[in-house]
Amino acid sequence: MSKNIETHLQENRVFKPAKEFSKKARISSMKQYEELYEESIKKPRTFWAREAKELAWRKKWTSVLDWKPPYAKWFVGGKLNVTESCLDRHLETHRANKAAIIWEGEPGEIRTLTFRQLHREVCRFANVLLNNGVKPKDRVLIYMPMVPEAAIAMLACARIGAIHSVVFGGFSADSIADRLEDCGAKLVITADGGYRRGKIVPLKASVDEALDKYEGQVETVIVYQRTGEDVAMKRGRDKFWKEEMAKADKTHEPKAFDSEHPLFILYTSGSTGKPKGILHTSGGYLLGAYSTCKYIFDMRDEDVYWCTADVGWITGHTYIVYGPLANGVTQVMYEGAPNHPDFGRFWEMVERHRVSIFYTAPTAIRAFIKAGDHFPEQHDLSSLRLLGTVGEPINPEAWMWYHLKIGGGRCPIVDTWWQTETGAIMISPLPGATPTRPGTATRPFFGVDAAILDEEGNECGPNEGGKLVIRKPWPSMTRTIWGDKRRFRKTYWSDYEGLYTAGDGAFRGPRGNFWIVGRLDDVLNVSGHRLGTAEVESALVEHQTVAEAAVVGRPHEIKGQGVIAFVTLKEGVLPNAELNQELRNHVAQIIGAIARPDEIHFAPALPKTRSGKIMRRLLKELVTKGEVSGNVTTLEDLGVIEHLQESLANAKSQ
Ligand code: PRX
Repeated sequence: MSKNIETHLQENRVFKPAKEFSKKARISSMKQYEELYEESIKKPRTFWAREAKELAWRKKWTSVLDWKPPYAKWFVGGKLNVTESCLDRHLETHRANKAAIIWEGEPGEIRTLTFRQLHREVCRFANVLLNNGVKPKDRVLIYMPMVPEAAIAMLACARIGAIHSVVFGGFSADSIADRLEDCGAKLVITADGGYRRGKIVPLKASVDEALDKYEGQVETVIVYQRTGEDVAMKRGRDKFWKEEMAKADKTHEPKAFDSEHPLFILYTSGSTGKPKGILHTSGGYLLGAYSTCKYIFDMRDEDVYWCTADVGWITGHTYIVYGPLANGVTQVMYEGAPNHPDFGRFWEMVERHRVSIFYTAPTAIRAFIKAGDHFPEQHDLSSLRLLGTVGEPINPEAWMWYHLKIGGGRCPIVDTWWQTETGAIMISPLPGATPTRPGTATRPFFGVDAAILDEEGNECGPNEGGKLVIRKPWPSMTRTIWGDKRRFRKTYWSDYEGLYTAGDGAFRGPRGNFWIVGRLDDVLNVSGHRLGTAEVESALVEHQTVAEAAVVGRPHEIKGQGVIAFVTLKEGVLPNAELNQELRNHVAQIIGAIARPDEIHFAPALPKTRSGKIMRRLLKELVTKGEVSGNVTTLEDLGVIEHLQESLANAKSQ
């Protein structure tokens, strides 16, 4: 049994939902959950057809599901415009003048957009895109700060059937260029900059740098002026948002698109090579976003919901843009850092806006714990009724702190497991029904046939670790990797015939709860963000001094995992502290700040087998335990290990 599993097994605290909460919740008992779950697995077509009726369709589907593994089509023959479910339909109800987005800029300004106002902006911007020649299925790259215009840009693409690809504002010019090239975008939407920790992040400058590297098919760049700083504008190509909006018509009649019309591409890290473009389509994705918000966040008209993610990640797509808007809920959106001007910012905002549902990442919670209890203690958090976490396994200490210090011991916590590829939450408690335990995402959501398998494909017994798989298609599943069907099959569908392999290790406890242990592949989870070790390695070897590099993860108190790199320099290059720093910066420059290695260790050679393969297992052991165990007889040169051990020990003592 692995150490991870043992630690989890010692966790026997259970928290049942409060009666008051359950009474009002959509799903108020485990019995109700189990009955619906059974229906959703045995009769997925019946279950999902009923759920889908709650969305706005222009034409009803002829068949709910067409499944030819690994390709699924949901609501075949159905037609819709995703933005009608998110916006138009609310305008005929009491929600028209209700706040859709309450936005706070990092410097402190507040802007509120009602559903009607948001709709108007989206219509106008849809016309801007049309005026600039964007057609259905054209790709539009979005590189924006966390301002309402990021959501407006995404929704405007969806409205005209263009495919958006949002690139997180923390990624580098190189990352933008790679994604531009991969998806063949024709238009880029960006801003002059955004605020982060009191500084301006110069987004337009990164777009310019990216376009210098790869202009490809990009004809137009639309620039939203967030900071008002001067930016270079290329004549004929670059246009200001404001000016384009002023020229555009304010009404836009949405066309209906096929249920399987592509909605967006979002890049995520894999275990090899460049990030892959995960493709999501319209009807099924929207349904996943809508129904998980409805059941897991138990969203209601009177709620004020806040998801602290960035729209550059899948969490921002599903749980800031599509899910909450389809549910017609009021949400808070925040531009900046959690610790600006100090670690009280989130709690001050919860108090100011009377937030009732709050969704964040364990890494943020751990940073708050470290900052001290006096920050949340200074604020009235009594408006909160439900808390959520996402992105990585939550350690019991963080769970308990969240429960007691933020939730006041009264709010259920939904620990939600899912991925960019799954589109929506897959495993999570239902807040009015599921007894929760610190560290487990508990039970699968409706329609999710999750299981843990061993190498032979047999289902693991209780407390036995294995691979997490999903055995049946679900509406919001990714349809493919953009432009790479082979990689799609190989990455997710080749371990077991017809089953989706998530890439996570997990086990089920005696009561059937799923405990996610972590990635099984060479993907790190740094502050809840996925990062391929191969990406960092290739960034390192791009530097003129580096001959070879190997990267592994090491548990990190706040970030979950830290990035540790081992580097062999080219002949004649001498290792020194400046070069070490330069290489760390170089990685940040190539990928983005989240990829900056925590430590770089120089080594005359890396541990290799006699056939020349780097022995990563040994490197992982070295960084986690400080020594290596097991069979090292295949190692070419034992001295290499001693050298690395010394370097790691020195770094620790510094
Ligand atoms: O390892 C799992 C971890 O994050 C991975 C997915 O990362 P990404 O596609 O970037 O999406 C993050 C937001 C959905 C998973 O393979 N992960 C995500 N949520 C959890 C988690 N690990 C444990 N518990 C979770 N609740």
